[in-house]
Amino acid sequence: MKPAKTDASGLVWHPLGEAGSFAMGIQPAEVGRVKLVLVRSEQGFRAFDRHCPHVGGPMLKCETTGSYVTCPLHGWSFNLDDGGREAHGYRSLRTYLVRLVDRQVFVELTDVTEAAKVE
Ligand code: FES
Repeated sequence: MKPAKTDASGLVWHPLGEAGSFAMGIQPAEVGRVKLVLVRSEQGFRAFDRHCPHVGGPMLKCETTGSYVTCPLHGWSFNLDDGGREAHGYRSLRTYLVRLVDRQVFVELTDVTEAAKVE
């Protein structure tokens, strides 16, 4: 895996792989010990925490509807276009910036870089 890159803004971008290697839909992704959900759709790539902020529901099994993802345990719904904000004002789902550079998918994990390091 290629090393992370820090951009001019100080954001740290970790490579996940070549865009074409990801299937459409929901799939797991990892950066070191940080486990994420990666969604590939017609709108592009999205990334968010693998566990729901309510009581840790498995977001790998969430339903997606437009920009919303819904936890399978109790139905909290999060707007990925609004920073993972919960539809009823409950705790937000942590989301991560994703970008494509030369067909490579990168996820921004600046403040968890230390935790992301492989032991
Ligand atoms: S654990 Fe996700 S809504 Fe309860």
